[in-house]
Amino acid sequence: MIELDVTDSANIQKAVEAVETSLGTTGLNLLINNAGINSYATLETLTAEDMMAVFRTNVVGPLLVSKAFLPSLKKAAQALHLEGMSCNKAAIVNITSLLGSIQLSRENFTRAPMYPYRLSKAALNMASMCLSEDLKQYQILCTAVHPGWVQTDMGGMEAPMPVTDSVSSILKVLSSLSQRETGKFLDWEGKEIDW
Ligand SMILES: NC(=O)c1ccc[n+]([C@@H]2O[C@H](COP(=O)([O-])OP(=O)(O)OC[C@H]3O[C@@H](n4cnc5c(N)ncnc54)[C@H](OP(=O)(O)O)[C@@H]3O)[C@@H](O)[C@H]2O)c1
Repeated sequence: MIELDVTDSANIQKAVEAVETSLGTTGLNLLINNAGINSYATLETLTAEDMMAVFRTNVVGPLLVSKAFLPSLKKAAQALHLEGMSCNKAAIVNITSLLGSIQLSRENFTRAPMYPYRLSKAALNMASMCLSEDLKQYQILCTAVHPGWVQTDMGGMEAPMPVTDSVSSILKVLSSLSQRETGKFLDWEGKEIDW
């Protein structure tokens, strides 16, 4: 196991070196940015510190991790002479949330008026879109995936979906991704979500 704190640049670099040593010359095919923290802060309770902490982990972290692993992803994309884009070739998958959808916030805001979390996932969605456009030139796919409401520490035990269901479904979706899905926002079943 390789430890990685996404809020610590030196630690990210150490993790990149450890991954590259373990992969040898092949490069990294798939980077899943899953780390995230929650905040239930509303307009009344939010603070600058809370906002910055959530943004540091949920937005800056995945972006810096993606940037740090880019040489290794490029290496993988070049090494495999596969047609088109896929997670077998080279891909970044950002685990986001439905709560980051600006479109859907009209209907679901009052159920979860969590400003820092929503704003951070909306920013992560923009990062996914930017990365997908930027990395097309290297044949690196980038997709944002909402895992569903899942029974984790963050989702809580009242969540409807066991972790195994969400993970197995997401893995199936990832195995089917192609250039058609780069720059898309998908749920755990592969259904497209409005940004
Ligand atoms: N559960 C849901 O219903 C739900 C819904 C929508 C989206 N999501 C998203 O799904 C992802 C996973 O969430 P989860 O439900 O599994 O949450 P979780 O149970 O709270 O787990 C969060 C994970 O993120 C890691 N993490 C937090 N800060 C980190 C950091 N600075 N560096 C590296 N790792 C860090 C934690 O590691 P440690 O345990 O070592 O702290 C933990 O493994 C998150 O991006 C979340 O926003 C979850």
